[in-house]
Amino acid sequence: MTYSSGWALVTGASSGLGRGFATRLAADGMSLVLVARSTGILHDFADELREEYGVEVDVVGADLGDPTARAKVVAVLESRPVDVLVNNAGFATSGDFVDEDPARITELVSLNCVALTVLAHAAAAGMVARGRGAIVNVASTAAFQPIPTMATYAASKAFVLRLSLAMWDELRTQGVTVLALCPGATETDFWRIAGNPDGFKRRRTVSQVVRTCFDGLAKGSPVAIDGPLNTLLAWAAPFVPTRLTMVVARFIARRP
Ligand SMILES: NC(=O)c1ccc[n+]([C@@H]2O[C@H](COP(=O)([O-])OP(=O)(O)OC[C@H]3O[C@@H](n4cnc5c(N)ncnc54)[C@H](OP(=O)(O)O)[C@@H]3O)[C@@H](O)[C@H]2O)c1
Repeated sequence: MTYSSGWALVTGASSGLGRGFATRLAADGMSLVLVARSTGILHDFADELREEYGVEVDVVGADLGDPTARAKVVAVLESRPVDVLVNNAGFATSGDFVDEDPARITELVSLNCVALTVLAHAAAAGMVARGRGAIVNVASTAAFQPIPTMATYAASKAFVLRLSLAMWDELRTQGVTVLALCPGATETDFWRIAGNPDGFKRRRTVSQVVRTCFDGLAKGSPVAIDGPLNTLLAWAAPFVPTRLTMVVARFIARRP
């Protein structure tokens, strides 16, 4: 299938990768539903997209960690023929597990795992009924090994990867593509919000990750890992003892 008309819904569209995905989909001719908490930013971005690409753009302000707010987005997916869902909203925390704020890690799991699953489920039902569609679940290279000092985040992305692979297998015969997109460190607000603004300085750009995503979708791949070094490390991980991968991962994720 091509993604050059119809509706796409992008979560976390107010910043970073979400803006990149939304811009690419609008440039390809898709009308958009943009979701995030920062509605002011989303409305300004929607105006830019309408003006630049002449597509329809709707804004839904929602904290996806909150079940009531999340239900608004589910209602959109159930009432509108959304052909592309980009499940992108997410964040990380960093630091020792015992020092984590329980409220913050609850929020992390609610957003990175629960919201992503609920939205993917709501979108998949309509897509299967129409026999077409694509779901991008934004995972991470953090999915390929446990990461001491980013324990909850890495575990949440392992969940996203495993869920996406099984969805890919179940849905591929029904006209629906599912892609687990695995960026490594990328230049967005992510690292500042994670409390480690200077962490992992060798970062890829949003446009590189967006290109990897759309190449993966075009091929119908179950997984797309962004960048050659990230790809090498991800594919090597299963062949290296887990204790050793954790030493390397802890070093990479350290606060400088
Ligand atoms: N940047 C990296 O190095 C990197 C690497 C691997 C994977 N990723 C993944 O890529 C995805 C996008 O991250 P990014 O790098 O673009 O970071 P970002 O610039 O911080 O963007 C995160 C987006 O998620 C939204 N969001 C956060 N909490 C939300 C909530 N409770 N409800 C609704 N929306 C919420 C934010 O919007 P509001 O604040 O307006 O709600 C924002 O639009 C995430 O899933 C992240 O885990 C990032």
